[in-house]
Amino acid sequence: MMDKLKFTIKLSSLLSNFSNLQTKLLINRLDRNNIPNHIAIVMDGNGRWAKKRGLPRIKGHIEGTKSIKRVLEIAYDLNIKYLTLFAFSQENWDRPKQEVDGILKIIRKSLQNEINQLNEKGIRVYVIGNFKRVPDDIKNTIKNVQKITKNNKKMNLCIAFSYGGREEITQAAKNLAKDVMEGKMKILDIEESIFRNYLYTKDIPDPDLLIRTSGEIRISNFLLWQMAYTEFVFTPVLWPDFNEYHFLKAILEYQERERRFGLV
Ligand code: FPP
Repeated sequence: MMDKLKFTIKLSSLLSNFSNLQTKLLINRLDRNNIPNHIAIVMDGNGRWAKKRGLPRIKGHIEGTKSIKRVLEIAYDLNIKYLTLFAFSQENWDRPKQEVDGILKIIRKSLQNEINQLNEKGIRVYVIGNFKRVPDDIKNTIKNVQKITKNNKKMNLCIAFSYGGREEITQAAKNLAKDVMEGKMKILDIEESIFRNYLYTKDIPDPDLLIRTSGEIRISNFLLWQMAYTEFVFTPVLWPDFNEYHFLKAILEYQERERRFGLV
């Protein structure tokens, strides 16, 4: 029995060293001059991860927060300037109340608990979305975290929360129309560079790379305007299993692409 336990422990540490070694090998292969400036992630598969283990869905979301930490740390070390995470879509409000409450609790706690550490590391936090349905205490936490971190320059973490791409574009059109009606903007002056100033992401450059986990191959109403020229990498790995190795592999895949932006 003892021998079996020892063997299992040895094997798991060997395997973890092996994956560390694999991760190191990938880091060495990275082209440091071609690191994406902005990576956006659709963190998908928490529910399936939990179901596979016979656990309630919320356990998958809790485990998913560990992947967020892993990815944030490696992105920080690689000097990636912008990381955007799709934490909660507008459509997610229609999930069972128990699950919505559970996710809100994770988001509330994560923001409150991590604010100091994020700030000490020089990370600026943006939260984008339509907060009409968001409870007041979370709205206040969002305001607070954005205010406290607003002068930070090392890295930008953008959390898409209660976010929908079509809603973002619609509210931009509405606000632009209002400015035209009030004489603050002339119709002839409207260009793409003007329109983008009405988006939630007006201070954030467009993503260079989108990663979506869990094998789903779609963008699900995420950053529709912003991803016109983004490179997409899809991986079958479920979000709670996503680690540094998978993140580096996605960047390497991005580095192998030739970005032409519509040119020849
Ligand atoms: C997708 O998995 C995940 C979500 C809808 C929620 C993820 C949110 C968190 C982990 C909290 C994030 C917190 C911060 C502060 C950024 P799914 O439920 O769609 O999985 P499934 O497709 O397998 O059902």
